[in-house]
Amino acid sequence: MSSPAPGPGPGDGAPGAPALRSHQWYGTDGLRSFSHRARTRQLGYLPEEHMGKPVIAILNTWSDINPCHQHLRDRAEAVKRGVWQAGGFPLEFPVATLSETFQKPTPMLYRNLLAMETEELLRSYPVDGAVLMGGCDKTTPALLMGAASADLPAVFVPAGPMLRGHWRGETLGSGTDMWKYWDEKRAGRIGDREMSELEAGLARSPGTCMTMGTASTMTSAAEALGVTMPGASAIPAVDSAHSRMAAAAGLRVVGLVDEGARLSRFLTAEAYQDAIATVLALGGSTNAVIHLIAMAGRSGVPLTLDDFDRLAREVPVLADVRPGGAYLMEDFYYAGGLPGLLSRLAEAGLLHPDRPTVAHASLREQLDGAGVHDDTVIRPLSNPLSPEGGVAVLRGNLAPDGAVIKHIAAEPRLLEHTGPAVVFDDYRTMQATINDSGLGITPDTVLVLRGAGPVGGPGMPEYGMLPIPDHLLKQGVTDMVRLSDARMSGTSYGTCVLHIAPESHVGGPLALVRTGDRITLDVAARTLRLEVGDTELERRRAAWRRPPAPYGRGYGALYTEHITQADTGCDFAFLARPGEVPEPYAG
Ligand code: FES
Repeated sequence: MSSPAPGPGPGDGAPGAPALRSHQWYGTDGLRSFSHRARTRQLGYLPEEHMGKPVIAILNTWSDINPCHQHLRDRAEAVKRGVWQAGGFPLEFPVATLSETFQKPTPMLYRNLLAMETEELLRSYPVDGAVLMGGCDKTTPALLMGAASADLPAVFVPAGPMLRGHWRGETLGSGTDMWKYWDEKRAGRIGDREMSELEAGLARSPGTCMTMGTASTMTSAAEALGVTMPGASAIPAVDSAHSRMAAAAGLRVVGLVDEGARLSRFLTAEAYQDAIATVLALGGSTNAVIHLIAMAGRSGVPLTLDDFDRLAREVPVLADVRPGGAYLMEDFYYAGGLPGLLSRLAEAGLLHPDRPTVAHASLREQLDGAGVHDDTVIRPLSNPLSPEGGVAVLRGNLAPDGAVIKHIAAEPRLLEHTGPAVVFDDYRTMQATINDSGLGITPDTVLVLRGAGPVGGPGMPEYGMLPIPDHLLKQGVTDMVRLSDARMSGTSYGTCVLHIAPESHVGGPLALVRTGDRITLDVAARTLRLEVGDTELERRRAAWRRPPAPYGRGYGALYTEHITQADTGCDFAFLARPGEVPEPYAG
């Protein structure tokens, strides 16, 4: 199930085993231990402050460049308070920040780098337990992937969503309203003055995007997995409850060390199934499909696209939160937050209530007393936003290994559609030519972008919501069928078929599509077909040549050599499984 434990720890029961992993660094009689104690005195600590106490690493993704995590410096102090209070010894470690807004070509290129940093840092230092602080999109799966591989006791502290945006009496949602008003500007309906006001009103506090984008989807998934404090994921970043939650996480992780409760106790097959059900009931981001498959791989839990499609047919969408719904994360928090939503899923028998969480002996116990305070934001099962989950998995000759679509964010008339393709070989070409009237794009056209997958992107950027051409926007066209091997921001919307696997760069059938080919999308039948005969496709395949690798050296070369495709989570193949890694010798 999980990777082998990194050395002895509390609860292992080995006769004569040292009580703590960190004991090997601090507590033995050798020269190295003497040096470690001397250097800890150099840090200014008395021996009484740390000797024999669980060492808790606080992995902090704070950075001046990451507006979503700007409060995490303060929150780390709250975590330390909790750790000291519980009798532990907290040490803060800065780790890579993955700022969704600023990092290019995409933070997805670096998710596995942060996962590696997390795993190796936890393994190579005298750490008994960890608090993982993240939230901006890729930071959550990265920290949890690394921590799952290191398999120490750990608690995840979500950064929490920012406050609602405001403009001229309207509430604004991150991403979602940015796309909307950018299109309004392109259509000539608003000008520079309005755009400047919107720029000031969209993001008005620290915290992650306050729509149900990838950040809130993944922090909610972490809570559903049972590795956060109860209710943690929806607490607004600037609410004082957020500081208390951080302190509670510090307190609790020391208890987990005392109990020898490693992450693998919680990251079980049942927990991952519940995380999928939660993401679906939230109408969450399609990025969760990739991240949960990658996280489960680290836990030794086989998870596939079929798990998502199967559960999507059973789990209704209950959270009326943008982009699929009307409200924002602050409203969701006041309506009962994730405990409220989970209590509804549990009532319907859609969760596994007997599995443990970091805070309680069982999920059932954790949800005792949880409820919903506003049925318009967290809908009852009798009145769901959609009777089915928000994600469908498509297959066919264009996506033999699968593709996904967030059909609740699409215009229903397009969910069964056949149209002629207009193909773009890469994103820059698409940007430069999409408004070219010579392309003959009509509302029926199927826009196809390739070269945007895990290798070709590189890093599978969020290019999947291709823009509607200006001339169609001005005619009032607001959605078209769009296909790509890219991902899409969780705050985006439209009839966008994503994650087509295998990607075009490695020779997936997407590489063979030509402008003018007809393509059929049928979401109800879960199919995506290129209406071109097998003989012609074979002829095109024989003529196809793989594009040059995007990187000749460095991390990019390592990435492109080892990255797996979207349907298997885009982890590095050599990390995507549990396995023996030697514990470092600290003597
Ligand atoms: Fe950080 Fe959206 S940009 S969560």
